[in-house]
Amino acid sequence: MPTILITGGSGLIGSQLSKLLLKDGLSVRHLSRSAQPDAAVPTFKWDIAKGIVDPRALEGVDHIVHLSGAGIADERWTKQRMQVLYSSRVETADLLKREVEKTGAWPRTFISASGVNYYGTLTSDHVFTEEEPSANDFPGQLCQAWEDAAAAWTAQCRVVQLRTSVVLAREGGALPKLAAPARWGLASPLGSGTQWMPWIHVEDLARAYLHAIQHAEMHGAYNIAAPEDVRNRDFMREVAHALRRPFFLPNVPAFALRAVLGGPSELVLEGSRVSNAKVVASGFSFRHPELGEALAGLLQ
Ligand SMILES: NC(=O)c1ccc[n+]([C@@H]2O[C@H](COP(=O)([O-])OP(=O)(O)OC[C@H]3O[C@@H](n4cnc5c(N)ncnc54)[C@H](OP(=O)(O)O)[C@@H]3O)[C@@H](O)[C@H]2O)c1
Repeated sequence: MPTILITGGSGLIGSQLSKLLLKDGLSVRHLSRSAQPDAAVPTFKWDIAKGIVDPRALEGVDHIVHLSGAGIADERWTKQRMQVLYSSRVETADLLKREVEKTGAWPRTFISASGVNYYGTLTSDHVFTEEEPSANDFPGQLCQAWEDAAAAWTAQCRVVQLRTSVVLAREGGALPKLAAPARWGLASPLGSGTQWMPWIHVEDLARAYLHAIQHAEMHGAYNIAAPEDVRNRDFMREVAHALRRPFFLPNVPAFALRAVLGGPSELVLEGSRVSNAKVVASGFSFRHPELGEALAGLLQ
């Protein structure tokens, strides 16, 4: 039975993925900043600042899924916060690699999260594909460093990076925050409302990770976004519709969001489409391809 070690496995994506892997009969472990001896999934501790990983976490691991990362939209991008965002993604991957090097017990696969922010926070009619370069803005450079840290494993094992769009889930992430005003009848587009909002249902994202584990021919970066392209105003309208609430208010001005949220506001105010052709060509199919159906299930 293959063993999968998930860094940041306690989070939104890691919890959903763990459930799916366990259901498929796979053995799952988590690597976390806090050890939880009684957790349903064996959880081992690492301390990034001290450069320590519990060696038991790495024994007999077949695949590593690297999900650890402080929330990019959670706080303003001060210098200190940018360092936390970087170290929780990049220094963690480097630390893990150094620890595996000590024993030489390489996994077969290293799969890392990344974001469609790789292509930058900009609104355009361009549909980005995996061959295109990273953007020069902070999110683009963060994703580049994150993917480089994963690519450093390539000499020893198969590497896949899943460039993930906005993850829609009931329990956390962006959806509960975006839906909160709509629940009060205050749904409205954000900024111009014309920015694209690539999205993925959390169940499909977990299935994409499992697919990447199971398909040894997959290598490198893959855009992970549902087939239905929507702009922010259409997304917000669908949210209001799913909640049976009105949608008539004027747009929330971009300057107000920038004043309140700072840098992270760009993540909601700008966006372009990404092509999912590469992951589809690998044999992946979406269980939730349409936004209306996805939201109806998640917002009930
Ligand atoms: N959700 C999305 O819409 C989305 C979109 C694109 C990419 N991603 C990426 O996918 C990954 C997982 O996302 P998620 O939504 O599951 O995030 P999440 O719920 O915030 O979970 C991330 C996990 O990372 C660990 N973590 C948090 N801060 C850390 C720090 N400072 N140092 C080390 N570890 C830290 C935590 O695990 P412990 O507390 O157990 O240590 C946490 O449970 C993240 O890297 C995220 O950037 C997410």
